[in-house]
Amino acid sequence: MKSNGGFFKQAYIYAVSAIGAWILFTNLPTFRDTSHLAEFLFMFALVAIGEIAPVTIPRGSGTVSVSPPMNYTVTVLYGPEAGIWVNTLATLRKRDLSGQVPLRLVLFNRGMLAISMFMFSKAYQAVGGHFGTLGWPRGYMAFLTAAIVDTLCNALQFAIYFSLDSGMSLRGVWRLNIQWTLPSMLALYPLGILMVLVAQEGGPFLLTLFYLPLLTMKYSLNKYIELRAAYQEMAGALSNAIDARDAYTRGHSERVAEYAALLAKEMKFSEDRIELIRYVGLLHDVGKIGIRDAIMKKQGAYTYEEYEEMKTHAKIGAQMLEGMKFIGKGQDWVKYHHERWDGQGFPDGLKGEEIPIEARIIACADSFDAMTTDRPYKAKLTLAEAKEELKRCAGTQFDPAVVKAMLKVVDRMIAQGK
Ligand SMILES: [Fe+2]
Ligand SMILES: [Fe+2]
Repeated sequence: MKSNGGFFKQAYIYAVSAIGAWILFTNLPTFRDTSHLAEFLFMFALVAIGEIAPVTIPRGSGTVSVSPPMNYTVTVLYGPEAGIWVNTLATLRKRDLSGQVPLRLVLFNRGMLAISMFMFSKAYQAVGGHFGTLGWPRGYMAFLTAAIVDTLCNALQFAIYFSLDSGMSLRGVWRLNIQWTLPSMLALYPLGILMVLVAQEGGPFLLTLFYLPLLTMKYSLNKYIELRAAYQEMAGALSNAIDARDAYTRGHSERVAEYAALLAKEMKFSEDRIELIRYVGLLHDVGKIGIRDAIMKKQGAYTYEEYEEMKTHAKIGAQMLEGMKFIGKGQDWVKYHHERWDGQGFPDGLKGEEIPIEARIIACADSFDAMTTDRPYKAKLTLAEAKEELKRCAGTQFDPAVVKAMLKVVDRMIAQGK
């Protein structure tokens, strides 16, 4: 399948590139006069600038850009040739020009864009749209139809490529990679109509207005990214402070955060929840700051009273995190990270699913780190031994479902030679 896919994939790439080039050079834009040309160049520059500074969505793989509606606007107001040229060439990004993307893929991408915009203009005309002005209601109908055709045409071309590349069925690719991206494209259609109307009334130079919200968005997203980094550093500093009080648990909080995040990922939690679990994992023992040195640094076994005092770190930690809005329910996870599945844990003796799932995850990550690092009272277990220990404690100390996921995480660690 893969080797056939290799041949068909190459053939497909060349065919799309060739058709795209043919469309581009049989649709050369012409201009009435120099001001017409100047307007076209201005629109070209506007789209190019929008592509230079796309807004990256944090953690997602996408970017937000006003290019698609801007390209539709060019096509409707300046004709299919101008639209095809802008859509195909003004959307080149730095990585396309700097050689980061192989040339044949750059040509292939351009080919797809030329074909889609060609289809846009054909659909627009077929439904009765006029180039130069957008009339109500027919023009609006034509615009929406054409925009849907462009989106689907683009999506289909991508889907065929992914399918040939991965050997997955076309339907599978569509469902997994394409379908969910379509609704966000729909939001751009009304924006496109608005752009046409604005340019129609006030001239194309007014289209710069649409870049203001984009820039504001970019600014606030950057602020948001900085803020997240600041939280992360703060949580990291705090966890170092906790671990520094006990030489034997150096790096404990960070490892627990890492294991908890891997577990949450294995259990198919959303990106947001995984990130929160990581934060709370970092801070799970923050309450130890409130425990006396005499107990924290004690070498031998605890007396009953000392152990009771040590146990309070879970509640103290939860109190410390009270009022930290971004942690949400995370303080409960800190409070319950020493609860056990069989109800024999502390502080409240919660049982089974009464314990928040995130606390069950952190509990498992916490114990796994304790098993696999040297402690004053016992030598560390190997990963294979830790797996046996996890299995032994599934259903008593740990949630069996969490153990099942943890075993997969450990298997991966073993495979990676850790
Ligand atoms: Fe703890
Ligand atoms: Fe811990």
